[in-house]
Amino acid sequence: MSDATFKAHPFFARMYLRMSPNAEERGQAEYRAEMLAGLTGRVLELGAGNGLNFGHYPSTVTEVVAVEPEPTLRAAGQEAAANARIPVKVVEGVADGLPAADGEFDAAVASLVLCSVPDQATALAELKRVIRPGGELRFYEHVKPTKQPGAALATFAEKTFWPPIAGGCHPARKTGEAIEAAGFEMEACRRFGFSPGTPVPPIPHIIGRARRP
Ligand SMILES: C[S@@+](CC[C@H](N)C(=O)[O-])C[C@H]1O[C@@H](n2cnc3c(N)ncnc32)[C@H](O)[C@@H]1O
Repeated sequence: MSDATFKAHPFFARMYLRMSPNAEERGQAEYRAEMLAGLTGRVLELGAGNGLNFGHYPSTVTEVVAVEPEPTLRAAGQEAAANARIPVKVVEGVADGLPAADGEFDAAVASLVLCSVPDQATALAELKRVIRPGGELRFYEHVKPTKQPGAALATFAEKTFWPPIAGGCHPARKTGEAIEAAGFEMEACRRFGFSPGTPVPPIPHIIGRARRP
């Protein structure tokens, strides 16, 4: 496993630790529970951060392998794993070279991470590789607005100031389309606006599930 494609963002990591609880209180915790409802078996979680999903996995999940490349977030994730009601193993790794065998998992989870990986197509190909045939990808991601001026603003932010200050986040990605382009069959995809905190306006998010054929 190589971490050559991960650019560390230590300032963002510290900010995420401080600011993410606020988004959970504003409703994000419910979206996480919705994303994970009904999951079963062994699950790989990509870019698990400080482990905010861990408390929402149903007891039908037998093990979560949570991949996280950023050291500060990984340490916080390890603490959260110790308090989870299902077994969670936090490991170092990157999206474009997952530390997992082909078809090893019943499902994979991506929340607020496909915006940040350097190459979405490669990350999705890796997720598809490690999910068994017939297994699921669960996702909760913010995506590019469809209307103006939001779409133009997102594109401007993505090309200029936003990735350097937000941990490599790209606000103008069409993640739902990318999931389908990667060869997953979309089974459910709900779109809605959500603001993680003031002064950020509601930005479009998608939540749902897609199946590996
Ligand atoms: C906004 S945080 C979201 C964390 C978590 N998934 C959540 O739902 O709260 C983005 C996460 O993507 C991770 N990340 C960034 N680049 C990555 C990569 N190349 N491979 C795997 N994870 C990555 C970051 O370290 C961080 O944990």
